[in-house]
Amino acid sequence: MAVPIITPAAGIRPDLAVAAIPGDEREWVPQAKDVWFRPLLLNTVTGGWCNLLRVRRSGILQRHRHPMMVVGYVIRGRWKYLEHDWVAEEGSFVYEPPGEMHTLTVPDDCAEMITFFNISGAMVYVDEDGRTVGYEDVWSKIEMCRAHYVAAGLGARFVDQFVR
Ligand SMILES: [Fe+2]
Repeated sequence: MAVPIITPAAGIRPDLAVAAIPGDEREWVPQAKDVWFRPLLLNTVTGGWCNLLRVRRSGILQRHRHPMMVVGYVIRGRWKYLEHDWVAEEGSFVYEPPGEMHTLTVPDDCAEMITFFNISGAMVYVDEDGRTVGYEDVWSKIEMCRAHYVAAGLGARFVDQFVR
């Protein structure tokens, strides 16, 4: 049997290699007070995204639930979930199983953390009782980036470089 020749024309999406931590502050998209994300890959094929999350002291990433797996790697600083005892330190690998629910904070002795996260599917935001109050998926992330990059003067198409 002949082995097929695979070419980019077969529909393979373009690869991607970028400086993860941007030189231009405007590339960080505000998420909440003292919380930003920097998109790296917005994956519309499998549904999910890779980004850097930056949280400065007193920043809180609202309580949320993951319907699918999340993995992360701490690049700078340290952080913890209010619901767990452990602290993710610089250089730590983190796995968040489907069903995991948590609230991310930075300890008082840390000025800033930056963590790479690969998020599958969606983030479902919940209240104190675990009731759903909102969600994010790859499409809402793209729109959030687009709105910010327009406002920041980088243009509506700036986010397209991260979309696959
Ligand atoms: Fe999470």
